[in-house]
Amino acid sequence: MNTIGLDIGTSSVKALIASSSGEVLKVCSPEYPFQTPKPLWAETDPGVWWEATKKAVRALLDEVDPSSIGGIGLTGQMHGLVVLDGKGEALRPCIMWNDQRSFAECEEMTSIIGEEEILRITGNPVLAGFTAPKILWLQKNEPDIFARIDKIILPKDFIRYKLTGEFFTDVSDASGMSLLNVGERTWSNQIIDHLGWKKEWFADVTESTEVTSKVSSFGAKSTGLAAGTPVVAGGGDCAAQAVGSSIVEEGKISVTLGTSGVVFAQSDSYRVEPEGKLHSFCHAVPGKWHLMGVMLSAAGSFQWFKNEFAKLEDKIEKDGGANAYDQLTEMASSIKPGSEGCLFLPYLSGERTPHPDPHARGAFIGLSLRHGIGHVARSVLEGVSFGLNDSLTLMKRLGINPSNVILTGGGTRSSLWKQMLADVFESTCTLVNAQEGAAYGAAMLAAVGVKIKNSVEEVSREWIKETERILPDGKVETYRKIYSRYIQLYPSLKDHFYSMSSLF
Ligand code: XUL
Repeated sequence: MNTIGLDIGTSSVKALIASSSGEVLKVCSPEYPFQTPKPLWAETDPGVWWEATKKAVRALLDEVDPSSIGGIGLTGQMHGLVVLDGKGEALRPCIMWNDQRSFAECEEMTSIIGEEEILRITGNPVLAGFTAPKILWLQKNEPDIFARIDKIILPKDFIRYKLTGEFFTDVSDASGMSLLNVGERTWSNQIIDHLGWKKEWFADVTESTEVTSKVSSFGAKSTGLAAGTPVVAGGGDCAAQAVGSSIVEEGKISVTLGTSGVVFAQSDSYRVEPEGKLHSFCHAVPGKWHLMGVMLSAAGSFQWFKNEFAKLEDKIEKDGGANAYDQLTEMASSIKPGSEGCLFLPYLSGERTPHPDPHARGAFIGLSLRHGIGHVARSVLEGVSFGLNDSLTLMKRLGINPSNVILTGGGTRSSLWKQMLADVFESTCTLVNAQEGAAYGAAMLAAVGVKIKNSVEEVSREWIKETERILPDGKVETYRKIYSRYIQLYPSLKDHFYSMSSLF
């Protein structure tokens, strides 16, 4: 039996079929845009996800017979607010995870519930990306829509509703709403009551490997799937990505170098970083939790640098020469660690971990006439590595000591960056065979849900293999010294970032 993993992402749906031995038989990934109707806003019409899902699933089923699909696992962008009326129609576009409009509502919600109480119950401070402050924003700013709410669901659970006609969510995704009692893995009646909202708005919450519902005749007609195919709860994209990279036992840590950077560790118990600097969520592994640091511009910083400042390298690539990223990392490789005193702060989109500050900004510090494009390119890679190390350091302080860090995401194409991460983290880093991220993790959760495999640990052992190992080399000492300077920069610049951003 095969399983399907469906990842309802920010800019595309990724759908894949995995065989019972973990082989990826087909991937299909139709793209869609999201809208930014005002600064700090990010929205998508959920109907767009459904159209892309139908297209992607139909394309997968060109490869295999629908009767060979034993189950479907769902994952997707977390935190998005989807509001439905009594007929199951979306009342407005989804307010997405990267939408920062509800900054004031975070403070309001914190003062209603109490800062310590919020941290104790939900494991996290209320952040503008999370779902509950967006509901509060809707209540104040779009009261007519708010009055018509019948259900409040997360992006992947909208697709579950379309496929099966039923409302469910899972503990890992629900953790990002600021409404879940993360320690107890149930909705917090205390918070929902305090806010004066209705419990019936929220879908029943299950562990990520539970079968929640089955493909309905409408779902089957729309996608080509067989009616009755089980749909498994699945998880938020970070948790599913971690499952898909074998982070299914305590002591394992992954670092994902995507546009944003995610440092993810499983925890067997519910732990909260005392200042709430790390996200503390339920994991998609039943009965386990995870800690997570999210850096908003990781590989995205290097992409920005390439797009804006490496026009020549881009042209060389377009004229048939080497890839522009490879040209930049080649130049960066010839520069000594520390980029001869140039340090980059990677807060190009503000930051979440370890500085939850929408006003934080990027900076190059220490530039001199000696510095050329190779130095600056290297400093970008180093600054991002230091920023990721901030999350790792917070985890180590909580007693999580990885023997190894698993690297995933597009940034791992660069040998220079992989070695730099091993040196900055002072840890062995490894890569694994699974390259399809959260969609693959969702297919793994489906395989457990429909009993093709016995447990998440088992499927991880059988499907995921190490492919590369990188040991820290002689640069550890140098990077330790530079990192100790790096961590002093944000506190010194914080007020300047704020006063500058208020001018523009
Ligand atoms: C996690 C987060 C993002 C989104 C979109 O907290 O905000 O990773 O899930 O991928």
